[in-house]
Amino acid sequence: MNDMQGFTRTDYCGVWRMAHIGQTVTVCGWVQRQRDLGGLIFVDLRDRTGLLQLAFDDATNPTVFTAASTLRAEYVVAATGVLREREAKTDKIPTGDVELYVTSLHLLAKAETPPFEIIEHSQVNDMLRLKYRYLDLRRPDMQRTMALRHKITKIARDYFDEQGFLEIETPILTKSTPEGARDYLVPSRVHPGKFYALPQSPQQYKQMLMLSGVDKYMQIARCFRDEDLRADRQPEFTQIDLEMSFVTEEDVMTVQEGFVRRVFGEVLGVDVPVPFPRMTWREAMDRFGSDKPDMRFGFELRDISDIVATCDFNLFSAPVADGGSVRLINITGGAEQFPRKQIDALVEFVRTYRAKGLAWAKLNADGTSSSSYQKFLTEGENAAILSRAQAQPGDLLLIVGDAKNEVVFAALGALRCECAKRLNLLNKEEYRFLWVTEFPMFEFSEEENRFVAMHHPFTAPMDEDVDKLESDRAGCRAKAYDIVLNGTELGGGSIRIHDPETQQAMFRALGFSPDEAQTRFGYFIDAFRYGAPPHGGLAYGLDRLVMLMTGAQSIRDVIPFPKVQNASEPMTSSPDVVDKTQLDELSISVSTPPEDA
Ligand code: AMO
Repeated sequence: MNDMQGFTRTDYCGVWRMAHIGQTVTVCGWVQRQRDLGGLIFVDLRDRTGLLQLAFDDATNPTVFTAASTLRAEYVVAATGVLREREAKTDKIPTGDVELYVTSLHLLAKAETPPFEIIEHSQVNDMLRLKYRYLDLRRPDMQRTMALRHKITKIARDYFDEQGFLEIETPILTKSTPEGARDYLVPSRVHPGKFYALPQSPQQYKQMLMLSGVDKYMQIARCFRDEDLRADRQPEFTQIDLEMSFVTEEDVMTVQEGFVRRVFGEVLGVDVPVPFPRMTWREAMDRFGSDKPDMRFGFELRDISDIVATCDFNLFSAPVADGGSVRLINITGGAEQFPRKQIDALVEFVRTYRAKGLAWAKLNADGTSSSSYQKFLTEGENAAILSRAQAQPGDLLLIVGDAKNEVVFAALGALRCECAKRLNLLNKEEYRFLWVTEFPMFEFSEEENRFVAMHHPFTAPMDEDVDKLESDRAGCRAKAYDIVLNGTELGGGSIRIHDPETQQAMFRALGFSPDEAQTRFGYFIDAFRYGAPPHGGLAYGLDRLVMLMTGAQSIRDVIPFPKVQNASEPMTSSPDVVDKTQLDELSISVSTPPEDA
């Protein structure tokens, strides 16, 4: 077996064109496939830039020809030869006009038959892909994604550098932070019984950097959250994290719009118009049932509570009487597209959002209608609903009522997206950005039976709502904003509290006793006593940005070594058991042995 002694690669496989004909070059890579046509052998050689055809001729070079006949898929070779025009040209690959007539071949490594073929968009089982991730990553689409992720990260660094931001690293072994998810903990050997927490985000450190006079901070920051995985959520993910001093919401948003415009322009050649539309959280919920509305289609929510409040149909009147609401969406032109069976599937769909049911009306083109509810209402009530829905023949109305408004919003918000998906209205190449602003400061957590911070406890209340911090938590709004793209929350941030009194009021509002607040955040509150500049910032989910820019279906496809549903990593089989001596050193005893031990 050879190593790289004695020869050097001239360039990658994917770069060669007609202009290079006649040059003697060396290329290196993996055998994609070998075709033996008798006296001629063709090998497609692959590296991260693409494929190049290698040609071997028994008549003119029998030694090299014999060596080529032993090549199998995924063998690693270096080949030296002369570039020549290809007889059977192809436009399927960029190097399709040329081939390398090989005069010297070096086998650098053999390969066993891989568990799956290394080809673009292969339909391989996910677990297998992740177990052999190094093979999966050899595929051209994965190579492209890694390159694109690099490019996005580089543009972020360049852009924010040009805007005067300093890239600064913050600790990974840190103290538990209140971002809302569960922490990953790391035991301390030196302090038995004490634990570091991995950062859910660098939130407190970046604020400390503002207090340090850094003025503008950025970091490509690894974050860790022990929460359930979803298609756009990983326990370990990356943020483009930013913080700025002496700014308002507008200042932060303007800098971000510049970044988004730059990254979409340079990477995708897409011209994103700025400023992005802005919408308050209240308006987003009322119109779209979501704080991250997809703006590529309509189907907006309409409240019909006033029309049905006194009707005889209990499923409509009861939710209103119980303090909730009844709302509809009009799937314009949807009557024919949704046969009964599909409507039944939609009923099941809304149940997953805790809706008890879904009422519907199909308005046929001939003026007749079929409906699950119309017979229970008066003519006047039905007419009022149609008018509120601005319904036309051919439309489909879908209605959800519930005593809890959150359920109505969640169900209809998801349903409008589901219908758009079924109607093929989601164009991946249309990018509709939106700022959602004026988020509520708090949300009520039924699990914990208390108000929790909707963003995080360092978010400043709106000036008009400062007095409501402790007196009207449900009505208190925050200087918080999310950047939303096509129904995904791409990033979020806020202007921060910068005076110790408001910060303490915030902790009181969250139910922390003065002692608790001091224990958990004492250093933070104290720091603000020494002159804190007004500041604010934002963090993008880098993985989500890459997902949306590549059209990937899953966040796993844009992370080289992701975790699977149960938070394990199949290639290395982490997490794993450790030696008893390691545990003893950490003064840890495990009370429940691992299932597979
Ligand atoms: P937030 O918690 O909203 O804010 O996170 C910011 C962005 O990070 C991404 N994100 C995730 N991506 C993948 N997997 C996850 N588990 C995950 N969780 C969050 C999202 C989200 O919009 N410190 C604040 C930011 C600030 O106020 O400046 C923070 O972390 O795209």
